[in-house]
Amino acid sequence: MSVLSLFPTRVYTAKLQGPGVVAFNGRLLRECAQYREDDVAGRAWSRERYPGGYTSYGSLNRMHTLSPTFAHLERRLRRHVQAYARALEFDLDGRELAMTDCWINMMPRGVTHGLHLHPLSTISGTYYVRTPQGVPGLKLEDPRLDRFMAAPPRRADADQRPWVTMPVAAGTLLLFESWLRHEVPPNTAAAERVSISFNYNWF
Ligand code: NI
Repeated sequence: MSVLSLFPTRVYTAKLQGPGVVAFNGRLLRECAQYREDDVAGRAWSRERYPGGYTSYGSLNRMHTLSPTFAHLERRLRRHVQAYARALEFDLDGRELAMTDCWINMMPRGVTHGLHLHPLSTISGTYYVRTPQGVPGLKLEDPRLDRFMAAPPRRADADQRPWVTMPVAAGTLLLFESWLRHEVPPNTAAAERVSISFNYNWF
């Protein structure tokens, strides 16, 4: 007999390589703080939709076209997105995956970002800029969850769990298919969690 694992959900994680990653992160962090300072519209948007935190999702959502530092991040992410697309076995048929959106997320203590997915995109992901000890990871939901119906719960030590929380660390990135629901649980650490999220689409 055999038991097969079919229809895997693939998630990509990597650390940015090369010299100067720590300095690069420092530059990104300073820019995130400066943009929050300057982005009056974004702070107003965040007050309503991202209580306690700041996101530039509703205001400055193409950071890679605004800032040379973020443009540099986009260049550094390219080979990872290509590697992930290969792992997904996409046949891109000569077309390219290109970054369409890129925005800042700053989450002080208590801030959460509920379950959501990223419509109108192919690949989404996050690069972590600042992750002090104790900040939450990224919680991913089994995309089959709404079909489980009468399935019994799984053991606490099971490999197959309905939610998996990916640990996050500064200097690393996560990529997932945009249909995968995810959330950031409340930040219980005293320190701020800072990340940059992005979408790619197929052109
Ligand atoms: Ni998201």
